[in-house]
Amino acid sequence: MPGAIHAEGLVKTFGDVTALDGVDLDVPEGTVLGLLGPNGAGKTTTVRVLTTLLRPDSGSATVAGLDVLEHPDEVRRSIGLSGQFAAVDEYLTGRENLQMVGQLYQMRARAAKERAGELLERFHLADAADRPARTYSGGMRRRLDLAAALVVSPPVMFMDEPTTGLDPRNRQALWDVIKELVSGGTTLLLTTQYLEEADHLAHDIAVVDHGKVIARGTSDQLKARTGGERVEVVVHERDAIAPARGILARYGPGERGLGDVSVEDHTRKLTVPVTGGAKLLAEVIRDLDAVGVEIDDIGLRRPTLDDVFISLTGHAAERAQDEENGADPSAGGRGQRKEPAA
Ligand SMILES: Nc1ncnc2c1ncn2[C@@H]1O[C@H](COP(=O)(O)OP(=O)(O)OP(=O)(O)O)[C@@H](O)[C@H]1O
Ligand SMILES: [Mg+2]
Repeated sequence: MPGAIHAEGLVKTFGDVTALDGVDLDVPEGTVLGLLGPNGAGKTTTVRVLTTLLRPDSGSATVAGLDVLEHPDEVRRSIGLSGQFAAVDEYLTGRENLQMVGQLYQMRARAAKERAGELLERFHLADAADRPARTYSGGMRRRLDLAAALVVSPPVMFMDEPTTGLDPRNRQALWDVIKELVSGGTTLLLTTQYLEEADHLAHDIAVVDHGKVIARGTSDQLKARTGGERVEVVVHERDAIAPARGILARYGPGERGLGDVSVEDHTRKLTVPVTGGAKLLAEVIRDLDAVGVEIDDIGLRRPTLDDVFISLTGHAAERAQDEENGADPSAGGRGQRKEPAA
C-alpha cells in the first residue's frame, strides 16, 4: 500500500539539465523522510513536483492518496509547504499574518488568534508580534514564514531547508514543533543540509544526487554501510608514530598487520578500525603508555551521517552560509526561492 507520499520515476529536465532522473519515493503515513543531497541534486525540484508547483516530464506521484497531476487542487488543500503558500504580507504585523492564514483555512477567529499567539511565542517572535513584517530581520521573516506554514496542521507537510539561516535556539524550537506535528500523525518530507537535523528528525533518509535516489534507509542503516568504529590517536611527537603503529596494529582486524593502521604524518594521527567499543580505548591507552608513547588525543569514532554523505556522494554537504540577519529576505532561503514558472 502506497504511503502518504509516493513517487515513481519522476523525470524533469530544464533545457539540457536533467534535474530529476527517475526519482522514486515512498513515505509511510506519520513518518518523516529526510531528503539529503548536495547542491543541485534535485531536492527542491522534487518538492515542487510533489506540491503541484511543477509538472514532471514523466513519472507519477500521489500525495495523501491524491494524484498530483490529476487532482492538483485537492492535493494543495491537503498539504502544507513552508515558505511557499505562506507568503508573508509585509504590511501586516506578524500576528495579523498568522491570523490571516488561520482565516484562509476557515479556522474560527478565536482559534486562529490562539494559534497565532502560541506560534509567535514558540518562535520567539512575541516581542515583535505587533510590528509590521517589513521591519523584521531575515531570520525573523523566516521564522514567521515557518509559523505561517504551521497555523493549520495538514496531513502532509513539505519543508524545504526549513532551518537554514535559523540560530540554534530557533532551530530547536522548530524541531520541537515538528516532533509534535509528527506525533499527531502528520507525514513530513523535509530537505536539509544539516545532517544532524536528519539524524534527529527523520525516520528514513533518502540521499539524492544528480536527480536520482542513490541510497535510502534509516540513519543507522546508512552509517553501518559506511563502516564501523575506529580508534583515532594523535601522538605528541613524530618519532612516536612508528611504535604507536605497532601497538595499534594489535587492535585492528588483523588481516593486514601494520597495514590496518592508517597514518597521517603531518597531523601525527593514526587510525585503526576496531570492534570492542570504549573498553578497548582504556587498553590502548595503557599499551601506548607502557612503551612510552605520549598522546595528545585519543578517541573512539563512529561514522557520522556526514561520513555517509561524503562516501556516497564524494563531497561534503555544503552548508549554506548563515543567511540570518542581513541576508536579502526577498531572495528567501535557497530552498524556498520562488522561481519563475518553468
Ligand atoms: N527553473 C529552473 N530552470 C532551469 N534549471 C533549473 C530550474 N530549477 C532547477 N534547475 C536545475 O535543476 C537542478 C536541480 O535543482 P534543485 O533546485 O532541485 O537542486 P537542490 O537539490 O534543491 O539544490 P540546493 O541544495 O542548492 O537547494 C540544478 O542543476 C538546477 O540548476
Ligand atoms: Mg534546493
